[in-house]
Amino acid sequence: MTAPKKLFIKTYGCQMNVYDSERMTEALSGQGYVATDSQDDADMILLNTCHIREKAAEKVYSELGRFKGLKAEKPDLKIGVAGCVAQAEGEEIMRRQPMVDLVVGPQSYHRLPELEARTRAGEKALDTDFPAEDKFEVLRKRPKAARGPTAFLTVQEGCDKFCAFCVVPYTRGAEVSRPVDRILTEARDLVERGVREITLLGQNVNAYHGAGPDGDMTLAQLIWELDGIDGLERIRFTTSHPNDMTDDLIAAHGSCAKLMPYLHLPVQSGSDRILKRMNRSHSADSYLRLIERIRAARPDILLSGDFIVGFPEETEQDFQATMDLIEAVHYGQAYSFKYSPRPGTPAAERPQVAEDVASDRLQRLQALITRQQRAVQDAMVGRHAHVLFERAGRFDDQMVGKSEYLHAVHVTDADVRAGDLCRVLITGSGANSLAGRVIRAG
Ligand code: SAH
Ligand code: SF4
Ligand code: F3S
Repeated sequence: MTAPKKLFIKTYGCQMNVYDSERMTEALSGQGYVATDSQDDADMILLNTCHIREKAAEKVYSELGRFKGLKAEKPDLKIGVAGCVAQAEGEEIMRRQPMVDLVVGPQSYHRLPELEARTRAGEKALDTDFPAEDKFEVLRKRPKAARGPTAFLTVQEGCDKFCAFCVVPYTRGAEVSRPVDRILTEARDLVERGVREITLLGQNVNAYHGAGPDGDMTLAQLIWELDGIDGLERIRFTTSHPNDMTDDLIAAHGSCAKLMPYLHLPVQSGSDRILKRMNRSHSADSYLRLIERIRAARPDILLSGDFIVGFPEETEQDFQATMDLIEAVHYGQAYSFKYSPRPGTPAAERPQVAEDVASDRLQRLQALITRQQRAVQDAMVGRHAHVLFERAGRFDDQMVGKSEYLHAVHVTDADVRAGDLCRVLITGSGANSLAGRVIRAG
């Protein structure tokens, strides 16, 4: 028997890329590959890339530059670029870095075995099509290994919203939802392999409208179907768009016990003028009213968001409106970014905000978010949380997991195993995590 070939995948960007990297590993297992954590051992290195901001894309080229030495030492080493940079730049990648053997876009991962074989034959392989066949179905038929207690499951991909700053509609394509039965099959399979928490993924996950037995189902209906799977304890979903928060989904947050009280609901800006220019099709006020309805259904829900500062033509007054919105919402967590012009998107052509102005705004916004995040975390001290433990921590007998609110929680307890779901008394709040003690009955 020949020794297995080693595959090293480095994943950038969003959770969907994490999911895709797992699928690529499975797809290449049929070609005799096993995953490795060391790029020096690898027979193939794949970069699963992100194109969302300029820095993310540039990182790929500098990373590729670093593989030159490795490739010189090991001529048989194959280097591939997958993900959103692959989709956006295609052949250009091979022009800029001629040692790249393979470029594959997110819609073509099921064709990886064939593309890999072409690289072994000494050819360059490029596939950035949006093929008609269902890649998920082809990918599903691959062998799968046992796994940890949490998993991602892509249910929807792509986006039709075309926010003026965003590359996703171009790199991931038009919005597509997977059929309900396929998702349920995949979820049951994950649970059989030890998964207790599933995060449903989609660039616009709450726009989900997959085919069910009696017509299309909403995300809330899909969640209720998943709720029926024994052994599945927790359900999450991300990322949602404010305009797709339907009544049934809001209601599910109040009534579905497996649906965790955490919602990532990006708003991007608190200024209506900027929101309009961003083509967001919601206002600051409609967002705030939506938050009120969500909190009415689930008062303890932890809210998370995304913000862009320094969007073209953003004034200090616009920025203040964003700060006011953040004050009004009180986030438990948020991601914030300086606007990065992306070639081919409408906003890239508009008058840009000066770099130092954008940096200053980002700093002020992040300081406010950090204060809110700390306040939400500190308020957990003395309360009970339910923690799903995922892995050992850095210290002896330390285990780390996530609370229902997605806070990282660590305990020192020799009897806790990965996969245990425990009631924990929160005893301390640190910069990015909570400390606690497992409560045992009796
Ligand atoms: N589908 C999600 C977000 C996907 S991208 C949504 O609709 O909100 C993740 C985040 O990256 C976005 O929410 C936005 O805050 C940020 N982002 C996207 N394009 C950007 C750009 N050109 N510059 C800076 N941040 C950007
Ligand atoms: Fe990008 Fe999200 Fe807007 Fe779609 S809804 S264009 S993914 S920011
Ligand atoms: Fe990045 Fe593509 Fe995800 S651009 S954020 S990897 S959808």
